[in-house]
Amino acid sequence: MAATIEAYLREQAAKTTLRFLTCGSVDDGKSTLIGRLLYDSKLIFEDQLAALEADSKRLGTQGEAIDLALLVDGLAAEREQGITIDVAYRFFATDRRKFVVADTPGHEQYTRNMATGASNADVAVILVDARKGVLTQTRRHSYIVSLFGIRNVVLAVNKMDLVDYGETVFREIVDDYANFARALGDLDIHAIPMSALKGDNVTHRSTAMDWYRGPTLLEHLETVQVDHDLAARPFRLPVQWVNRPNLDFRGFAGTVTSGQVRPGDAVRVLPSGRESTVTRIVTLDGDLAEAQPGQAITLVLADEIDISRGDVIVAAAAPPQVSDQLAVHLLWMSDQAMYPGRQYYLKTGTRTVPCVVTELKHTVNVNTMETQPAKSLGLNEVGVANVSLGQRLAFEPFRENRELGSFILIDRQTNATVGAGLFDFALRRADNIVWQALAVDKAHRAALKHQQPCVIWLTGLSGSGKSTIANLLESRLHDLGRHTYLLDGDNVRHGLNRDLGFTEADRVENIRRVGETAKLMVDAGLITIVSFISPFRSERRMVRGLLEAGEFIEVFVDTPLEVCEARDPKGLYRRARAGEIANFTGISSDYEPPEQPELHIQTVACTPEQGAERIMQALAERGIIPGF
Ligand code: ADX
Repeated sequence: MAATIEAYLREQAAKTTLRFLTCGSVDDGKSTLIGRLLYDSKLIFEDQLAALEADSKRLGTQGEAIDLALLVDGLAAEREQGITIDVAYRFFATDRRKFVVADTPGHEQYTRNMATGASNADVAVILVDARKGVLTQTRRHSYIVSLFGIRNVVLAVNKMDLVDYGETVFREIVDDYANFARALGDLDIHAIPMSALKGDNVTHRSTAMDWYRGPTLLEHLETVQVDHDLAARPFRLPVQWVNRPNLDFRGFAGTVTSGQVRPGDAVRVLPSGRESTVTRIVTLDGDLAEAQPGQAITLVLADEIDISRGDVIVAAAAPPQVSDQLAVHLLWMSDQAMYPGRQYYLKTGTRTVPCVVTELKHTVNVNTMETQPAKSLGLNEVGVANVSLGQRLAFEPFRENRELGSFILIDRQTNATVGAGLFDFALRRADNIVWQALAVDKAHRAALKHQQPCVIWLTGLSGSGKSTIANLLESRLHDLGRHTYLLDGDNVRHGLNRDLGFTEADRVENIRRVGETAKLMVDAGLITIVSFISPFRSERRMVRGLLEAGEFIEVFVDTPLEVCEARDPKGLYRRARAGEIANFTGISSDYEPPEQPELHIQTVACTPEQGAERIMQALAERGIIPGF
């Protein structure tokens, strides 16, 4: 028995694996199709079958016959609602191949799930109901599939039994699809007329459609050629960790994503660009003479060079590009919209770097592929954008390498994955802009003014008293002979930021610009006071990050909304309540109070003069106004 099992396992291990994705909705018969594949390939365990027969009688929509859809719609919630809600992976095998099916829901609100399923599939099976033909959702599925790099598409024209197995109906749908699909680039499309319910052309050839001479779906999946030839591409190894058990051994561990490597090969380490030669390829089972894609190895190099997690070791003769300014496609996966200017982490391979989307060029309507200018990217939206990274990064355009060509964006506060993206190309401008070394720098300018420059950042609701306190503070500093500048929200919005309103996207940009301006002023040696509502933590943290440690002093001017509203110095609260001003902070737009400000001033307990005095004390304690 054991021998049989081992022989079986060996046989299985030798087969190639095809990963495919099914796209369509419950109505198209997607679950029935997957169920049919699993059922007919005879790999359903007996006990699952028994349970299925019982369930079919209770819930099924097919009378006494087994409802194949129930096989796939595994989650209880889905069964009750009759819809599929997440990516489910299923496995089956035939004599010729092993298969992994990613079953993803097709509704627009699940675009992100579909993208997840598509990102590692070789083939997409796109279902069309023969009665309905190519629909908006067919176009959406095809666009996402092609965006995420699948070139092999099966157009499964299902429910042929409901159109009398008519050849003309099938041909029209195929032509219609081919016309549309031209816009997606060179897809390899294979169309099959079928009835998943009756079993025609899924695993068994249909006797009702002798006009179709092509393979059944299963035959096609068993034989379709997919580009698995990662071995023929240049060598890439993203370093997962540095293995240094003792002083005599230093190896770089990771999984080969493409290409091959042998001792003696010349390699380059990116982003540093240092070169060396491979001396050993170490694995748990001993040294290798050659390593292939997918193998986990530890490389030992001839030279002592600095390599850490996140670096990529590549063939010296065919390195990928390195850049920190890139054009990308982005799919947003979070309820919290993406705003240009906001900071995220970008993770690709084993490397994570700070990232800002510098420009959102446009969004792409996933249903029509039309582009539209936009200021933000919402859940399940696709956009084309430029990103700027905190460090240079080795990458390849997604078309050339899925691993080094794709990335995810991570929220800096919650660590949640908020977006998935594809690198398109490096922006040349990054190479053309260098830092000018200037003879007079911040330290010189500050020394001449006998002061230590900083930013005093006042944040709080409109009417909280920020400007009043800021004004008093500047007067006191000025009287002491200090060199200051006050950036006030209302004033800056008359000039530099005249083009910005009060949407979230505009506020993010408002603070980004003011942050950069404040940084320039600190560089000029000034004590810079900033008085902006600056409602979002993310942007305040971003400005803190622009400055050196100790230079950013966050002051929370804390006045309860009721008090601000009662004061209402500009009459704006009254108008906001009357619905005359949209997105008003505290009323129809969020204010996120600081969590750990350097100073917390509760204005109901002190006068503006006392508030300013407390800031003066804080500056004195930090040595910013010595002698005060
Ligand atoms: S921020 O949110 O982008 O930081 P900023 O400090 O520049 O705001 O501007 C706030 C000032 O603009 C307020 O003090 C108020 O006078 C005025 N204002 C006009 N419309 C709004 C609004 N919808 N929300 C908040 N402030 C507004």
